[in-house]
Amino acid sequence: MKKAFVKSYGCQMNVYDAARMVDLLGREGFTETAVMEEADVVVLNTCHIREKAAEKVYSELGRVRDLKGERAEAGRETTIVVAGCVAQAEGREIIHRAPSVDVVVGPQSYHRLPDLLRRAREGKVVDTEFPIDDKFDHLPPRRVLGASAFLTVQEGCDKFCAFCVVPYTRGAEVSRPVDKILAEAERLAAGGARELTLIGQNVNAFHGEGPDGATWSLGRLLRRLAEVPGIARLRYTTSHPRDMDDDLIAAHRDCPAVMPYLHLPVQSGSDRILAAMNRKHDADTYRRLIDRIRAARPDIALSSDFIVGFPGETDADHAETLRLVADVGFSSAFSFKYSPRPGTPAAESEDAVPEAVKRERLAELQALLDAQTKAFNRASIGRVVDVLIEKAGRHPGQVAGKSPYLQAVQIEADAAVIGTVLPVRLTRAGSNSLFGERAEAAPAAAA
Ligand code: 5AD
Ligand code: SF4
Repeated sequence: MKKAFVKSYGCQMNVYDAARMVDLLGREGFTETAVMEEADVVVLNTCHIREKAAEKVYSELGRVRDLKGERAEAGRETTIVVAGCVAQAEGREIIHRAPSVDVVVGPQSYHRLPDLLRRAREGKVVDTEFPIDDKFDHLPPRRVLGASAFLTVQEGCDKFCAFCVVPYTRGAEVSRPVDKILAEAERLAAGGARELTLIGQNVNAFHGEGPDGATWSLGRLLRRLAEVPGIARLRYTTSHPRDMDDDLIAAHRDCPAVMPYLHLPVQSGSDRILAAMNRKHDADTYRRLIDRIRAARPDIALSSDFIVGFPGETDADHAETLRLVADVGFSSAFSFKYSPRPGTPAAESEDAVPEAVKRERLAELQALLDAQTKAFNRASIGRVVDVLIEKAGRHPGQVAGKSPYLQAVQIEADAAVIGTVLPVRLTRAGSNSLFGERAEAAPAAAA
């Protein structure tokens, strides 16, 4: 039996793509292995968003090359595939710098992987095209599934934030047709999925063609997906503030399946920096938007992304970011030091913020955000919430799942409850998850 090892880095989109590559390789007779040493095909599904992403891939490739050498000595071939956004950005350069790599394939053409593997027997293969045919039409049905599944509804981004590589690596924004999404959702539900997280680089810009010929918004899509038998919960990520329309906000109010959680990156609280970032919104627009979302769904948990030390950021700009965080109140957040990405407009800027200042600002911001997360979790203690049980817990006799607010929750229960939604009384907050016990019934508000 041939074996494939697929390692994924970065965002949920990459997790999804990696799973689909496993499906594809499965159709070709490969079984997945978690042990790289025993793999006939090694796929690194790379991410370009973090600092020195390409350098990290090259150093990982050094290790994979050594492994390929050891396997060759034992008479076994290994095909090395670099997929994902670094593959897209670096292209043939990867083969030059890491000649042990056999296939370089971008995120828009990985459905051709079986063919690329065949061609790789003859020589190196690079495919970083943006083909016009629909990648999703060429992927086999989804295989083993859990209670919570990702579903790609949209890819690419037209926003061109000055710091971001996504519009270059993932390309222009494209939405999948509604009937294809529904068919995938139905298959996922039939396979046991209770929760779907709709993913896309700019998911709330979704504008897919509906079965009625009209263009559907994300709000409309969510309402329709809520009718799929078996689907109890819907989430979506990642959204842009400019694309949070009234219909989507209303879905949070009217549609119980749409979970009270929203990841809505703001990046900065300073209007000057937001303009320099080409974010297309200012801080007060974001505040007012949050007010409207909270008016529709008062208990919604909010999450965000922040960048500190964008070129030209002053202490006053940073203070504005802290003020915005204090005003809004987030249940969780991701924050990063700015670092230039080659090819993006901000990488050309000359007024870089010194590393020590970035570090200080990040520590200050993270202290505030951490305190908000802890306060949010503490406020949940004593409440009864519905938990979707997804997997076995850390210890025997425990199972783990998520609250509606995307908090990790552990309870004592038999593994038979995996895949169900249970009312849980939250009793204690640990450092990474909450603990609770089965309760009678959840209040309607936390459905
Ligand atoms: N520097 C630092 N952080 C970045 N992000 C994207 N590009 C950069 C960069 N050049 C962050 C943004 C984005 C998240 C996924 O990664 O906050 O929302
Ligand atoms: Fe990148 Fe998001 Fe901005 Fe698009 S909206 S350019 S994906 S940060």
